[in-house]
Amino acid sequence: MPDKKIVLAYSGGLDTTVAVPWLKEKYDADIITVTVDLGMVDLESIRQRAIQVGAAKAVTVDAKDTLVKEFLFPALMAGAIYEDQYPLATALGRPLIARCLAEAAKAEGAYAVAHGCTGKGNDQVRIEVGVAALAPGLELIAPIRDWGMSRQEEIEYANERNLPISPSNSKFSVDENLWGRSVEAGELEDPWLEPPEEAYAWTRAVADAPDEPAYIEVRFDSGIPVAIDGEIMAGTDLIRHLNTLGGDHGIGRIDQVENRLVGIKSREIYEAPAAVILHAAHRALEAMTLGKDQARTKARIAQEYADLVYNGLWFTAHRQDLDAYVSSTQRYVTGDVRLRLHKGACTVVGRKATQSLYQYSLATYDRGDEFDHAAAQGFISIYGLPVRTQNRIQPQ
Ligand code: ARG
Repeated sequence: MPDKKIVLAYSGGLDTTVAVPWLKEKYDADIITVTVDLGMVDLESIRQRAIQVGAAKAVTVDAKDTLVKEFLFPALMAGAIYEDQYPLATALGRPLIARCLAEAAKAEGAYAVAHGCTGKGNDQVRIEVGVAALAPGLELIAPIRDWGMSRQEEIEYANERNLPISPSNSKFSVDENLWGRSVEAGELEDPWLEPPEEAYAWTRAVADAPDEPAYIEVRFDSGIPVAIDGEIMAGTDLIRHLNTLGGDHGIGRIDQVENRLVGIKSREIYEAPAAVILHAAHRALEAMTLGKDQARTKARIAQEYADLVYNGLWFTAHRQDLDAYVSSTQRYVTGDVRLRLHKGACTVVGRKATQSLYQYSLATYDRGDEFDHAAAQGFISIYGLPVRTQNRIQPQ
């Protein structure tokens, strides 16, 4: 029995399945797999596969509630969307996986953490920066980055050793959690080609979506979605519900060419019905409840927050400080948003808030108007003073 232990982040896919015997042989260590449940995995079959391919122990961690509370909802409140499209599902899951790996390594007495990320992506950065921040003494091993095997060679390696590998997803590289599904590689690498239907799994094509629209009401309490159609729901259930309903209506398909941290542009498609619906609803409620300057500043923070998450800087004081600002902005973001889901479109059709800054008596053009029209004249006179002055003295 080797006395060294390595903790391996294990998804059950080809890369990490091949990594189990490979690490064991190369490092002469016991491999302890850690599979983190962020909402979309068949934990038991993954656990069994890990043991079957030679793991000394297979640990599973249910991190769904933590994902929602500590990562997804803060990002939602921040309005974090990367490069105008990507709601950051994978990017938000990685720091939590890093934390689970660091904790498991400590609990098991492992000297190293291994993961199945490639050398070209963002995920290697997110996981390694995260683990190093939380558990500085651990070694980091990235077998896929090191071994230089092609996918075909991995399959041969697996076949030689009779490793059970599932043929599923072989066409694309897929990552999923409650906040969305990320799909890349294969024919998606040609950015001119329309993604084939088989690349999608959570959403219907618009043509197959129901002709009748669905209307939903989402309630927020200080920026956090708490109920749908009046029914109070736990965060994980609420997200799952919206993924299903939104997916049925063809909502949440994103086709994006994005800038990776490592300098490469990549084409990825995403399916994120719940994230798309909740961001739209949250934005609509903020429009009612945030002042103009708050909204302007918050939009800048949203971009900063999205970049930080994307770039693997979750475990930083900067992120904590941004969270503190964002959370302060959310204290009156309480109310209801009504949305129509129809043929791929998610449209806000109504909003109301207990402490709304939208005031009918100020906005209306009908009877009941309380706006002081006489004051407008004086306002314009002073507001326009520098413009008039400059044009008088320095004609255009
Ligand atoms: N491009 C996305 C990101 O950097 C997703 C990466 C993982 N995607 C995948 N298909 N395995 O966050």
